[in-house]
Amino acid sequence: MVKLTGLKKIKTAVFISGAGSNLKNLIKFSKIKNSPISIDLIFSNNSKAKGLRFSRQFKIKENVSSFKNPKVAETKILNILKKENIKFICLAGFMKVLSKDFIKKFSGRIINIHPSLLPKYKGLDTHMKAIKNRDKIAGCTVHFVTAKLDSGKIILRKEVKISKRDTPTSLAKKILKEEHKLYPAAIKKIFN
Ligand code: GAR
Repeated sequence: MVKLTGLKKIKTAVFISGAGSNLKNLIKFSKIKNSPISIDLIFSNNSKAKGLRFSRQFKIKENVSSFKNPKVAETKILNILKKENIKFICLAGFMKVLSKDFIKKFSGRIINIHPSLLPKYKGLDTHMKAIKNRDKIAGCTVHFVTAKLDSGKIILRKEVKISKRDTPTSLAKKILKEEHKLYPAAIKKIFN
């Protein structure tokens, strides 16, 4: 991990595909005086992502590029990241897999939040898998992004109890609440 601390906040981009509750939470965190990051760019592969409303609300630059042709999209993003001098990337509900080449260019400087206790349940439908398997505990993980899906070094994890009445939807809601605490805590852990 490249040490990025200094007097100025680290210019950060957040990548989203959907609702953006983690994005909103990270924006709020970034505005705290001793937060190590500032959020200077929001990127989405999905022009209909609800979370894009936060770029307008908080006056943060946004960029949208569909991943129909991932190589073209990634080249475009890399140019914007360079232009905006972005040094750190947080994936927050970003549902596309970034290429090896892209990750290499930001090696040690991309992190992701995932709604399971990794290494358990990589990929999609994590809440359904946990309930189907009658797990008693689920949770969320913040980890560094590497070329292998949901497999990079773990920064922090938080457990959440699964009750007998939980459905994938109710479990997702409970975990999301914890994600909102875990993501800022993981960023603090990296930089402080
Ligand atoms: C979050 O639960 C996040 O962990 C998950 O998508 C949700 C996004 O919610 N991410 C993944 O599943 C990535 N594989 P949000 O848009 O409200 O932040």
